Amino acid sequence: MKVIHTIKDLQTELSVLKVLGKKVGLVPTMGALHAGHASLVKRSVNENDVTVVSVFVNPTQFNDKNDLVKYPRTLDADCKLLDACEVNFVFAPSVEEIYPKPDTRSFSYAPLDTVMEGAFRPGHFNGVCQIVSKLFDIVKPYRAYFGEKDFQQLAIIREMVRQMKFDLEIVGCPIVREEDGLALSSRNARLSAAERENALNISRTLFKSLTFAADHSVSETQQMVEDAINATSGLRLEYFEIVDGNTLQKIGDWNETSYAVGCITVFCGEVRLIDNIKYKEV
Ligand code: PAJ
Repeated sequence: MKVIHTIKDLQTELSVLKVLGKKVGLVPTMGALHAGHASLVKRSVNENDVTVVSVFVNPTQFNDKNDLVKYPRTLDADCKLLDACEVNFVFAPSVEEIYPKPDTRSFSYAPLDTVMEGAFRPGHFNGVCQIVSKLFDIVKPYRAYFGEKDFQQLAIIREMVRQMKFDLEIVGCPIVREEDGLALSSRNARLSAAERENALNISRTLFKSLTFAADHSVSETQQMVEDAINATSGLRLEYFEIVDGNTLQKIGDWNETSYAVGCITVFCGEVRLIDNIKYKEV
C-alpha cells in the first residue's frame, strides 16, 4: 500500500494502471476509520482491480468550525486498517493541495439538498459536492463507494453524477452498526460512557418504530419516535422525517411510495449523531 499526498503522484501511479485496463474503485472518507468505512473499502477491493481510499477532512463541508477543529485525525491508525484491507493507495492530501484557492463553485440539487441535513447545515452539501467532484476528477474511478448511513449525501451524490455526467458507478453500502445497534460513526469516539448509553436509544427507537409502523400511520410513527427521543434525558432531537427515499420529501401516507425511509438527527450532549431506517424498500 502506498500513501500519497499529492494529486500529481496519485495520477502518475493511476495512469500506468489505467493503461493496463485496471478498474479503479474509490472510497472517499474523512478518516478516523472504523468498521463502517472498512465495509465500503472491502467491497471496493473485492469488486475492482485497484482501490484508492481518500482520507481528507474537508473544511468546506463543515458549517460548524468547532466541529471541524474537533474532528478526529488518526492517519497512522487509518493506514493500518487500510493496509489490512489490502488497499492499494491512500490519498491523504493537504488542504492547500485540494484548495490552492477557495472553491467558489456552487452546487444545487433542490429539493434533495434543501431538506433535513441541508436545512440544518447550510452549505454542508455544497462542500461535499465540491470535494467529491474534485476527487472524481482526480481519480476518475470506475466505481465509487458511499454509505447509506449518510442517506441524503448518497442521494445527492447520485444526482450530481447524473447531472454532471460523471462516467462512473455509485455503489451504496448498508449501515454498519455496533452489536447493540448504534450506527458506527467517527463521532462516537467523542461520547462519554453515559452519552454512549443514551445514544443507544436512537437506534433502539428506530428499530421499535419499524414494528410500530406496521399497524400505525406515518404521523403516529413520527410522533412515537419524537416522544421516545424526547423522553431520553441527554438526547435532543434535531429532526426526524419520514421521507420518500428517492425524492427525500416527507410522505403523509405509507401508500404514497414504495421506498419509505426515516431519517433522524439527534444531539447527544455536544455530539451530533445521524441514523436512518428503511420502512419500505423497492
Ligand atoms: P465519512 O463520514 O468519513 O464517511 C465516509 C463514508 O463512509 C461515507 O460514504 C459514509 O456514509 C460511510 N460510512 C460512515 N459510517 C458508516 C457506517 N456506520 N456504515 C456504513 N457506511 C458508513 O461522508 C463523508 O466522510 C464525507 O462527507 C465525504 C463523502 C468523504 C466527503 O468529504
